[in-house]
Amino acid sequence: MSSVASVRIHASQFPENVRRDLLASLRTRRANHKFHYDSVKQTQKWLTLHQAYSPTRTDMDCQTVYEQGFQAAAARIKSQRVHVIGLGCGGGQKDTRLLKLLKIRGREIFYSPCDVSTAMVLVARQTALAVVPEKNCFPFVCDLATADDLSADFDSRFTHHASRIITFFGMIPNFEPQIILPKLASLVRTKDLLLFSANLAPGNNYAAGMKKILPQYDNPLTRDWLLTFLLDLGVGLGDGELRFSVATGTLGLKRVVADFHFTRRCRIEVENAVFNFCAGETFRLFFSYRYTPERVCKILARYGLKVCGQWTAPSEAEGVFLCRKA
Ligand SMILES: C[S@@+](CC[C@H](N)C(=O)[O-])C[C@H]1O[C@@H](n2cnc3c(N)ncnc32)[C@H](O)[C@@H]1O
Repeated sequence: MSSVASVRIHASQFPENVRRDLLASLRTRRANHKFHYDSVKQTQKWLTLHQAYSPTRTDMDCQTVYEQGFQAAAARIKSQRVHVIGLGCGGGQKDTRLLKLLKIRGREIFYSPCDVSTAMVLVARQTALAVVPEKNCFPFVCDLATADDLSADFDSRFTHHASRIITFFGMIPNFEPQIILPKLASLVRTKDLLLFSANLAPGNNYAAGMKKILPQYDNPLTRDWLLTFLLDLGVGLGDGELRFSVATGTLGLKRVVADFHFTRRCRIEVENAVFNFCAGETFRLFFSYRYTPERVCKILARYGLKVCGQWTAPSEAEGVFLCRKA
């Protein structure tokens, strides 16, 4: 394997745009969640907590649900060449399992790990190289929420002669759906398959299900990961406390929110921009929407995405959905 990796970087992640987004986060007291994956340190912290708490790592039944989705997608692919586009690929473990399956089925595989974090894209690339030839791997850094020319980019630059499977795993919880779903829908072409996963609130009682999953967030590894954003900007641990709660957001959807409550005055300076926080003020560090399978199907349909297969883990905490353009 070569010791050099070529990574394409979209303008949405050029320094001036990242700075604009950081200043907007500080001004609005709402962290854009992309900043939790910004540095190598944060990427490593997230990968560690994902390993410890994600049902896809800790629950064999949940892994099976992904396998079922992968099998169903692979069975629909008729062409010899398949291009997997991993949107928000993270460490690329799930995409690599899909790629491996396609390879076992005799397909020639191509992979575009896409993520806002360069470190994450490189980890995903490294993971995938166990099954994908280096020349068929196209790491791509972009901000899916702000880039508006990605479909032209994917269509022109990558393998238009291959079938495409777009993956969007574990992404929907951290975005406002009305912001990200139109973007996602615009990237899915008529013949593409979309594999989508969502974290769910288990059981028939939505509120009770939310209570049940709260420990997946309110734990030392997640606290440490989320606080890194503020600590790296100069906030001290003694300047406030991080509190998790359940709240209702867009379209009646429930979410876990993590707010930092300042208990004393604090000042953050980013180059020439100064942000003052008073005691009693809160800063939203993170949120994670939890859906139910019905809510997923309904919201995808709003954006012209039709679910043609779905698998839910016995724990009902995670679901995989195979979709097409309606
Ligand atoms: C919860 S992780 C999911 C990772 C992976 N898909 C999985 O299921 O293991 C969310 C991923 O989205 C990426 N991300 C966050 N905001 C993004 C944005 N605006 N555009 C692209 N990727 C983003 C993060 O860097 C992170 O890798």
